[in-house]
Amino acid sequence: MEEATPIQWFPGHMAKTRRLMKTSLPLVDIVLEVIDARIPISSRNPEMRSLVGKKPRIVVLNKCDMADEALNNEWIQYYREKGIKAFAVDCRSGRGLKQLSPIVHDVLKDELERRERKGMAGKPIRMMVVGIPNVGKSSLINRLAGGKRAKVEDRPGVTRGKQWVSIDGGVDLLDMPGVLWPKFEDKIVGEHLAYTGAVKDDIIDTEWLAMRLADLLNREYHSLLCERYGLSDEETAGIEPFALLELIGRKRGMLLSGGEVNTERAAAVLLNEYRGGAIGRMTLERPHESL
Ligand code: G4P
Repeated sequence: MEEATPIQWFPGHMAKTRRLMKTSLPLVDIVLEVIDARIPISSRNPEMRSLVGKKPRIVVLNKCDMADEALNNEWIQYYREKGIKAFAVDCRSGRGLKQLSPIVHDVLKDELERRERKGMAGKPIRMMVVGIPNVGKSSLINRLAGGKRAKVEDRPGVTRGKQWVSIDGGVDLLDMPGVLWPKFEDKIVGEHLAYTGAVKDDIIDTEWLAMRLADLLNREYHSLLCERYGLSDEETAGIEPFALLELIGRKRGMLLSGGEVNTERAAAVLLNEYRGGAIGRMTLERPHESL
């Protein structure tokens, strides 16, 4: 069977993104790096540190509603140990976003004090959002800026200039995220991104992907998987990945006319339910884990 194809990102795109970052970064005081809390390693840009340089950075673990609560906290702690402030949010409901303003003020404490001494205390803090596709950058900007966002000019030939939106806490947000690339040359990263739907399914063999996901969940979140699909410990002990996908399909009554399991349908159901958070809150990557 085919292996997962990672997100395509060509050298030209990367060069353009690097240039865009170079021109945008000097305009901001702080960068918000958005990652997917379900896959905090795979959803990062591999060059983040060199791209952002010395600019202060905060990590936003987005989609925390679908991730394992205990691991959200472990990841926050992991970043704290590295001297980076991180916090968990759910941009669908807005939960957790109240932490942003105090954290920004804390991270920029010295700079804000310097401004105060110079009589520039009222100057807004400028911030930009960066991250790889699908982590929720637009959702975050929408949540923070809401109705204050400018209407996008959709006419051909009209390029949109840099737009700033004032949000709470004396912060001006750049209304355009920096879209970065993932570590796409890494197969596991590509696979984990595909599980979450960050890679389009039409370039992947979904049965292969679902079989791998089923196997991973059986190891890492065995009870949640068993509960969702009515599987028993006996049935799943030492089961081969493809047999597990078949078992899931059979439990759901997805049979073809000859009695064989429709594994294509089973794959689609498993992936959809995983992506929608129906199986439960799960995090596929742990701090200090090398993929
Ligand atoms: P991007 O700009 O980084 O590419 O990501 P975007 O905001 O478009 O979000 C990608 C998908 O993730 C969207 O779902 C969005 O609703 C969802 N999402 C963003 N933040 C959260 C979150 O905190 N929790 C959950 N559960 N989902 C989140 P979609 O299916 O592509 O679109 P739609 O169903 O919202 O229309």
